[in-house]
Amino acid sequence: MRKPIIAGNWKMFKVRDEALQFIYSVSDQAPSQELVDSVICAQFTVLRCLAKRQGENIRIGAQNMHYLDEGAYTGEVSASMLKAIGVSYVIIGHSERRAMFNETDKTVNLKLHKAFQQELTPILCIGESLEQREKNLTNRVLNRQLKADLAGLTGEQVANLVIAYEPIWAIGTGKTATSEVANEACKHIRKQVAKMYSPDVANKLRIQYGGSVKVNNIEELMSMPHIDGALIGGASLKAEDFLTFLKVAVKAKSE
Ligand code: 13P
Repeated sequence: MRKPIIAGNWKMFKVRDEALQFIYSVSDQAPSQELVDSVICAQFTVLRCLAKRQGENIRIGAQNMHYLDEGAYTGEVSASMLKAIGVSYVIIGHSERRAMFNETDKTVNLKLHKAFQQELTPILCIGESLEQREKNLTNRVLNRQLKADLAGLTGEQVANLVIAYEPIWAIGTGKTATSEVANEACKHIRKQVAKMYSPDVANKLRIQYGGSVKVNNIEELMSMPHIDGALIGGASLKAEDFLTFLKVAVKAKSE
């Protein structure tokens, strides 16, 4: 059985006081990390204060990093810098970064290699646009992203990776993919990874769904066999809702 993983992607929200208030409300109440991996992916300026207070059952993630260790790259942050302040996860290749900040499959691939080298767990985001879905290109787009993004990674690394299937048309739009549509895409990703690596690697790989996940649809999504968790944007900003996501994930996967 794969352990469920719930990650909040705070995007560019929350100043320090708000982040502190959140972590104080959730850290004692989050379920045991033996039952669910609970991750908060915050913006850079609050990572240190969150990591210091993460407690037993919460882990902290960044939302991006550079693929080099250091250098004259104004405004960038490296994997070793994240590691040094207690960060455990990093989102790589979010569609907002691909669309707005020139992230390419090539840089995504370099970042994945670097994250593993620094023992950060990457959450790799892939997914199709509305136009691609309407043209029936979803599987082809996912295959292409997997091939380019995972190039050169070992089976052991991919088994420890988290992939977030995030259809672009569902992000921040209130249009969630139905649980069947989300499950089909996650199933396809697993099948493709089995072909590229092995059935064993694909079975260990955890795949999240992301895109307008809310407290009223998480249960149905988590009941699907190929969905191992969720990457949640807007609805992860409220501590009470984040705790609900964690509890529903534990319940759904223990039934
Ligand atoms: P929303 O949950 O706000 O749609 O965002 C999803 C997302 O982009 C998570 O990475």
